[in-house]
Amino acid sequence: MDSSARTKADSGAVISEEQAQQWAAQAASAGQPRPRILTGDRTTGKLHLGHYVGSLKHRVKYQGLYDTYILMADVQALTTHYDRPEILKEAVREVLLDYLAAGLDPYMGGEDDGSKVKIVVQSMVPSIAELTVFYGLLVPVRSLYDNPTFKTEAEQYGFTLNPQEGVFRELMNQGGSMLGYLELSPLFVEVLAPLFPTIEALTYSELRDAVNEMFQSPKVSIQATIAEIGGKEGLGPPDQMRFLLESRQELRREIESIMVAARRKRGLLAIPYGFLGYPVSQAADITFIGAQLVPVGPDQVPLIELCREVVHRFNSQYGAAPTSPSSGAVTGADSSGTEAAATGSGVLTTPFALLGVREALPGLDGNLKMGKSLGNAINLSETDEEIWAKVKVAPTDPQRMRRTDPGRPEVCNIFSYHKVFNGEKEPAIDEAALGVLSVEETAQQCRTAGIGCVDCKKNLCAKLKAILDPMRERRAAWAARPGDLEAVLRAGTARANEEGEKTLARVKAAMHMDYFSR
Ligand code: TRP
Repeated sequence: MDSSARTKADSGAVISEEQAQQWAAQAASAGQPRPRILTGDRTTGKLHLGHYVGSLKHRVKYQGLYDTYILMADVQALTTHYDRPEILKEAVREVLLDYLAAGLDPYMGGEDDGSKVKIVVQSMVPSIAELTVFYGLLVPVRSLYDNPTFKTEAEQYGFTLNPQEGVFRELMNQGGSMLGYLELSPLFVEVLAPLFPTIEALTYSELRDAVNEMFQSPKVSIQATIAEIGGKEGLGPPDQMRFLLESRQELRREIESIMVAARRKRGLLAIPYGFLGYPVSQAADITFIGAQLVPVGPDQVPLIELCREVVHRFNSQYGAAPTSPSSGAVTGADSSGTEAAATGSGVLTTPFALLGVREALPGLDGNLKMGKSLGNAINLSETDEEIWAKVKVAPTDPQRMRRTDPGRPEVCNIFSYHKVFNGEKEPAIDEAALGVLSVEETAQQCRTAGIGCVDCKKNLCAKLKAILDPMRERRAAWAARPGDLEAVLRAGTARANEEGEKTLARVKAAMHMDYFSR
């Protein structure tokens, strides 16, 4: 954990795994319901080993102990992937299979005693959308811009507050005259800008690049398109272009996605209102269900803090007379915790970030983080062959050029994987049974050139196989029952909606919007 994360951990928003466990144990012995957890993922694609180490396996460990809801955040996925909605259907299915493969035990209907995990589709919970609107009233725009999680992610996704600036900088850098800009502008202003409403301030070089790339794209049949407009010779270039783009939806989309990608890469994509506002909707994700605990990594803690601000503001603005924090001690999250005591009072429930001991898994390329977009990930659904193909070429200690050179495990990325995958004592891993070296032996053999990188990598793959094989079995079993997969989502979402409607009714009553007597 870095120092900023430590500061966050010290804030009242965070409780530790031990505290949470104590809370659950107290609830159990008092015959109270399990503390409620909500967590979620953007459904942008398959989950990888980093997700497993950082969150999935903890969720599996928590289930049964807490009343767990897991949100498939498809709407939030669109706040960064609005140009690619076609990924959602497949991504939702894949992420669901990843959950089930990892060992989550899903609620599938009937009485809910809190022991099973409710898997919920965000877009199918209307109360989340409605609460988002109300919470939006209480959040200053400035606080969204200043939120550290938002800032980091905006950068990561190539968003900028001021796309205009980039365009002018680019023009100046090119020594381009404003005259050149204006000369070409009819094409942009009249034809392209209205066709691409999500892109502000197109630049000529962007369009040129996009069109060039498009001509090389296998996805669009440029020849056919040109043949089609062949008869339109009377048209000037802007009209030709307009005709081309209007008549060929796939062409339009291809240009758009090329330009979005180019802008993203250069950090020049205009921030959509929806992305700026996603922390507000995440507050709705958490509170619609009255979650008390939100297991997250340190990077998400500022979002939980924002959610708590929303709750406090809502409760004091619209709630009934505030209960004094020391009155009903609803929970026993921590003995000193007035915050914890406040949980459960008021219209909305104040959540805590549950910050467990999580190891961050670096990318295969040595990048600090494993990420789908970084191209350095191993997905949970990959085969042994696919994994070996990636691991085989992964960099190790750059100073270890020959087999006989001694290596430095402390700088080697593959060694960091060895540590994560059995340093944590994965129950599935027994080095002796697998016939591979222990972590200590691996380090020692590397330093003395006792084993080479290839053997070391093979050992790692044997360990990964031991972790992934049981997941593969579960995945195959679920994948063979599509009806059950749908039932999981339907049941989890229906259960969430029951709770969401209750929360929304309370919220509306508090806001004097309960117009009908019944
Ligand atoms: N923002 C989270 C992420 O990117 C995903 C998420 C959506 C979430 N809604 C949530 C996490 C609610 C916790 C609680 O990983």
